[in-house]
Formats: sequence, C-alpha cells, structure tokens
Amino acid sequence: MLTGRHTQIPPAHRKMPGMNTAALPPRRLSVAPMLDWTDRHCRHFHRLLAPHAWLYTEMVTTGALLFGDVPRHLRFGEAEHPVALQLGGSEPADLVRCAELAEEWGYDEVNLNCGCPSERVQRGAFGASLMHEPQLVADCVAAMRAATRLPVTVKHRIGIDQIEKYAFVHDFVATVAAAGCQTFIVHARNAWLKGLSPKENREVPPLRYDVAHQLKRDFPKLEILLNGGLASTAAMAEQLEHVDGVMIGREAYHNPWALAEWERSFCDPAWQPTRESIIAGLIDYAEREAREHGTPLRAITRHILGFANGLPGAKSFRRLLSEPHELKDAKPELLRRAWEQIPLQAHPASADDSVGPA
Ligand SMILES: Cc1cc2nc3c(=O)[nH]c(=O)nc-3n(C[C@H](O)[C@H](O)[C@H](O)COP(=O)(O)O)c2cc1C
Repeated sequence: MLTGRHTQIPPAHRKMPGMNTAALPPRRLSVAPMLDWTDRHCRHFHRLLAPHAWLYTEMVTTGALLFGDVPRHLRFGEAEHPVALQLGGSEPADLVRCAELAEEWGYDEVNLNCGCPSERVQRGAFGASLMHEPQLVADCVAAMRAATRLPVTVKHRIGIDQIEKYAFVHDFVATVAAAGCQTFIVHARNAWLKGLSPKENREVPPLRYDVAHQLKRDFPKLEILLNGGLASTAAMAEQLEHVDGVMIGREAYHNPWALAEWERSFCDPAWQPTRESIIAGLIDYAEREAREHGTPLRAITRHILGFANGLPGAKSFRRLLSEPHELKDAKPELLRRAWEQIPLQAHPASADDSVGPA
C-alpha cells in the first residue's frame, strides 16, 4: 500500500472492487499520447467528440510520480473513461509503484512508452531506446502485471536508427508478449536516436504500415494498433482491414471535429453530434472547472482552436479564443461568442457534414 501523498486520491477516482473492465469498448479508435497536448482538458474535449475512443495521457515519467505532485499528474475527470496512463521509465520497481497508482486513481490501462526518441528520455534510458532491451521491457511488463489488474500495453516503433530488418521488431514483440502484454501500439516508423529532433522523428523516418500488418499476421492473438500519419477516414478504414485499431495523434488535435466522424465510422454508426452541442458541453465543463478548480478558460480553449477548421469564420473563432486580452479573466461565455463568429448557414446539422480539411 502506498503512503503519504500517494493516498490523496479523490473519492471519485477510487477504484471500485471488481470493476467490470469487460464493459470497456474495444480499442478500434484511440487518440495518441501527446506531451503538452493531451492533458485532462484536451481529453475531456475529445471525449465529447468521440465517446468510444481510448484516450491517452501525456507521458508521465516514473520520477515525476514518485518524487513529484501526484494529483497534478494523475487527476482526471470521470467522463474521460476509457483512459490510459502512459508511463515513461525503465526501472521495474518504479514502474510497479506507478502502475499501482494508476489503478488506485482509476485508470483503465497502463501504457509503457518505448517510442519516444528525445534526448532527455534517452539520457533516462527509456522511451525508444528500450527497444534495444526487449528482455528489460518484458521484465517491466511482468512486474507491472503482477502488481495491477489493469491491462499493461506497450507503444513502440518498428526499429531504431538504421535497423530495418523485420526480425528486430518481431523479436521485441515476441519477447514482450511472452511476459503477458496483449496490446501493442505500433508507431510504424523507425526512431532515429541521433541527429533528429522529436518533431523530425515524427516526419522523417518513412512510414511502413506493412510491418504492423506483418506483426498482426504473425501474432494473430495479440491486439495490434497502428499509429503514424493517419489523417483521413478512408486511410483509417483501410488500415482497419489489417489491424485491430488505429491511433491518431496530430490530426485529432489539429482537426478535432473529425473525431466525431471517426467515432461514427468505426465505433457507433448512430453518433450524430452537432458542433453546437459540443460547444455547449465545453461551456458546462469550463464552468465546472472554474468553480471547482479555478481553471482559467485559456487552459481549455487552447485545445480547441482547430474546432471550426474548414468553416467560414474559423479565423475569427481561433483569434477570439487565443488573444491574451480576450482570454484575460474571460468567462466560459466567450466560447459561445467565439462560436457566433461562424455564420449560421455554415453550421452543419451534424457530424455528417463538413469535417474540415482532410
Ligand atoms: C506534440 C506531441 C507530443 C507527443 N508526445 C508523446 C508522448 O508523450 N508519448 C508518446 O508515446 N508519443 C508522443 N507523441 C507521438 C504521438 O503519440 C504519435 O505516435 C505520433 O504523433 C504519430 O502519430 P500521428 O502521425 O497520428 O500524429 C507526441 C506527438 C506530438 C505531436
């Protein structure tokens, strides 16, 4: 049992004994973990748009949880389920304590980051460099699985630096699966650990979806999710012919209304929200956040600047929600005012209509 600050768990987050994880949706659609972007406000917004998508936290390092402000890193809203905590670390004992925290706080999954190429992460010997140490990853997974009932999943690349041979990622998955990991999120490009920034590492190494397809063929009992470069509904549908799920990062963040279409296409054919209903939901959320936590409006609006993309008035919408003088002491009603920048005739009746630029 954890003591001290680790026990400061709000009642809403305490896990119910015997919680029914079988009721969780399959991972057909997920929004990727993105540092500085997928905080709890962003996840709440995405949840309004896609009720069945799996949502991932930003990567939280074991050090940040073991020595830092746990509530700041782990607090989330009930509406966010299903939500996964992504951990960065490589020390089994530390990961065990963090996985226990994830369960106590009510997360639905623990995900281990084996894909981040940043220098800071390399110095900590975790992230993508862990792909060189499949047995250590297996030990971490086994230790976390022994400590929690939550599914323990891994997000990884298909190779490191110039290693292009399929055997490398095949052996990685085989070794980690032998420790009980059932779900692999494959960012389908190499990580180049030298010479590329994290941003370039999401753009320069070529995408190779065929590698993820081959993993699914070789490990048909594992759940294989594909990530990297997916932007259109058609491209996602095509990939879902080969793998169990798709994870979307940048396109979901920059063009969030598309999440409603992906939800309808891949999860719930009856899903027909209007943009007004999403704005109304956000106003409710912003009012609650301001009341209960003193959250400034800008912490929420910064994630929704792309919401009106593709509609006339989108520029004014964005401007109103990002200008410091508008945001200073702004009330949630500013969201309604921003939405009024969009001419009435441009309001699509539902998610059927324009989902913004493809
Ligand atoms: C701003 C930003 C931050 C990211 N932070 C993380 C992270 O914390 N953990 C992680 O596993 N991947 C992180 N990624 C990578 C994404 O999860 C995803 O693998 C990558 O963007 C490729 O997917 P996409 O082409 O759909 O964006 C980040 C990406 C971006 C753009």
